[in-house]
Amino acid sequence: APAAAPAGQDRKAGSGRIGEAGGRGLVDINPPRGTRDFFPEDKRVQNWLFGEWAAVSEAFGFEQVDFPVLESEELYVRKAGEEITDQLYNFEDKGGRRVALRPELTPSLARLVLQKGKGLALPAKWFSIGQCWRYERATRGRRREHYQWNMDIVGVAGVEAESELLAAIVTFFQRLGLGPSDVGLKVSSRKVLQAVLARYGIPEASFGPVCVIVDKMEKIPREKVVEELAKLGVAADAIEGILQALAIKTVEELEALLGADNHAVADLRQLFSLAAAYGYADWLVFDASVVRGLAYYTGVVFEGFDRAGTLRAICGGGRYDKLLGTFGGEDQPCTGFGFGDAVIVELLKDKKLLPQLQHTVDDLVMPQDESLRTEATAIAQRLRAAGRRVDLVLEPKRLKWAFKQAERCNAARLVLVAPDEWAKGTVRVKNLASREEADVPLDQLV
Ligand code: HAM
Repeated sequence: APAAAPAGQDRKAGSGRIGEAGGRGLVDINPPRGTRDFFPEDKRVQNWLFGEWAAVSEAFGFEQVDFPVLESEELYVRKAGEEITDQLYNFEDKGGRRVALRPELTPSLARLVLQKGKGLALPAKWFSIGQCWRYERATRGRRREHYQWNMDIVGVAGVEAESELLAAIVTFFQRLGLGPSDVGLKVSSRKVLQAVLARYGIPEASFGPVCVIVDKMEKIPREKVVEELAKLGVAADAIEGILQALAIKTVEELEALLGADNHAVADLRQLFSLAAAYGYADWLVFDASVVRGLAYYTGVVFEGFDRAGTLRAICGGGRYDKLLGTFGGEDQPCTGFGFGDAVIVELLKDKKLLPQLQHTVDDLVMPQDESLRTEATAIAQRLRAAGRRVDLVLEPKRLKWAFKQAERCNAARLVLVAPDEWAKGTVRVKNLASREEADVPLDQLV
């Protein structure tokens, strides 16, 4: 099925070459495959979404950071067999440097943390919104560029950090009109796998690669997962142990397997009790099969899902306490999430919760006669300086056209600068909702 464009115009069928019907096509007017254009109606939705993301982040006391879309390739070379590495948009720049369009924001954030070093006041609570690039097969909600909202906490080792991040995600869902029967958050901890691996004497170095393989469980057949784990040198009984642990559906069962003093069990118990205190426990589901596909997660991991089960993960995140060390820096406890713009818009469309946003201005200003062009221009500027949003008619037009234009831009008023009125020191102001008209003296016009 064709992938629906989430707030953005996807490439359409056909080559889209200009002049194709008549002659030689010169350029392809479609965006590259898997990418979107944003017409005004799409950009309105995007601005609204980004505004909600920023508002939630700020409500939780986070500060915004930003980084370049183009980064050094080495930030993403992790050799753990991750999909994200295979999908990298990487190339050599004119100076012979290996660079990549960022597939995610976390390595850039890590770079900023390392730049600040000891000078960074901890905990740091940062959010960012930016475009990410992954050479994916485009499907519903997955494309080759997407925007991600990230919230990360640096310097907090306990699950108090995760519980705060989950609270922010729930707050965002609530603001959109979604409830716990529409969406939920699956939670687990990679420490579950860590404990199982330790039990079978599997070396720590295999931890990341094992997690990456296990994450594919939903996408590829079980036999293939077993085969890949075996290739990594994991013995058959250990594979069985891993698969059994991942099938666990309650924290009680997990405790029975790993013991009450196991870190994963303790973390999850505390996380669920904090969730109850926040009041979002009914949004959370424990699911041991959630590991997430990125190699760097070390503890609690989570993902947002739609209860109907038709869409891919809405968001994903977790704890990554060892990423800074892999960049040659001093490790810091870190936790965060990425929330894409694609799946959520699909979900809101399905649920008819996407707001109907329109282009609006306060005033449409028009000279009725070209002899009053400079006067009309000055009026428009005056209204703008007073804080009004003003569309100025730039060419000679008839009144009929102006009314159409006022409708198109949802103007509240039409301000007509006309010869007779101007001679009396007034302009004609029409309230387009009430249809009332008045001649307003210039010094009273606001
Ligand atoms: P991720 O799970 O790879 O995590 O992606 C996070 C979210 O980004 C996904 O759940 C989805 O909403 C969106 N997303 C990812 N790929 C695509 C795509 N091709 N098209 C549309 N949306 C997509 C990360 O990227 C981590 N860096 C998140 C994180 C931040 N962890 C800690 N801090």
